[in-house]
Amino acid sequence: MDKKVTVVGAGHVGATAAQRLAEKGLSDVVLVDIIEGVPQGKALDLMEAAPIEKHDSHLTGANAYEATAGSDIAIITAGIPRKPGMSRDDLISTNAGIVRQVTEQIAKYSPDCILIIVSNPLDAMCHVAYDASGFPKNRVIGMAGVLDSARFRTFIAMELNVSVENTHAFVLGGHGDTMVPLPRYSTVAGIPITELMSADRIDALVERTANGGAEIVSLLKTGSAYYAPASAAVEMAEAILKDKKKILPCAAMLEGEYGYHDLFIGVPVKLGAGGVEEVIQIDLTADEKAALDKSAAAVEELKGVLAKL
Ligand code: NAI
Ligand code: 2OP
Repeated sequence: MDKKVTVVGAGHVGATAAQRLAEKGLSDVVLVDIIEGVPQGKALDLMEAAPIEKHDSHLTGANAYEATAGSDIAIITAGIPRKPGMSRDDLISTNAGIVRQVTEQIAKYSPDCILIIVSNPLDAMCHVAYDASGFPKNRVIGMAGVLDSARFRTFIAMELNVSVENTHAFVLGGHGDTMVPLPRYSTVAGIPITELMSADRIDALVERTANGGAEIVSLLKTGSAYYAPASAAVEMAEAILKDKKKILPCAAMLEGEYGYHDLFIGVPVKLGAGGVEEVIQIDLTADEKAALDKSAAAVEELKGVLAKL
């Protein structure tokens, strides 16, 4: 294939993302992990499914970075996931070291690639990868809003008994308890959900969305969600690989947009071959802006923690 995507971290999210990339025929895939044999074994297993799944993606596994050279995109999922009782922020010191080290290696072997960051705490890890790579801001993007919006869409479709395909939703802000689902910009067949359900029901769905990650953690008990997160990261990769100019909520480095400076936070962006090709600025009510400010403050706080590591 003429496109190559490296997925760092061959755990739950990484291996599922590799599977989705291959089965959608989007690219060849290199899976990298520190555990010897695991990326090689998972890549071979996925290759052996290819005749049945009918794709021609080539998958390889590696413990070093030579095989990743010349990647178009690197999806960084390396790190530890949270367990019940932990917040995403509890992962910061362990994952900052891991994300820094793997980003340096990726940047060395694929200096022109686009980074899609998945490891948590997401917005803080985007800052780590941005610093470690030295890449321009359009080539460092965080995955969170696509997942959080997909969760909101799922709950809207369940509530109204409609196809998920009729739903659109926007969840902005940091990927944490302060994320900002926007009901005004969330629609079913173009109709804002504010016209389709009561304020109480919308509040319940917003709350379930904000706790969507924790809901899965409490059910799984041994880790966090991975099917939907992998789908979200691959939707972003597909938009870039196919230069789709797709508007998706992603963590992007803001330099003045929405009034924030030097901050990664979830906003609508246009994703294409150049990565973040535009930050889309939508009008927010005073309440929505206040919620986004609170979320931005939470990311600023994590930046402070990073500075002390
Ligand atoms: P996992 O534990 O299944 O996989 C993580 C993998 O990273 C492991 O295989 C581990 O060996 C590998 N790893 C650790 N250090 C490494 C290094 N230095 N180099 C290469 N590989 C290394 O975890 P899972 O469930 O795949 O989650 C991965 C990360 O993604 C977690 O931090 C999790 O919180 C985050 N996440 C973020 C989401 C988001 O919305 N942004 C959604 C879901 C997960
Ligand atoms: C999630 O939202 C763990 O951040 C991850 O599922």
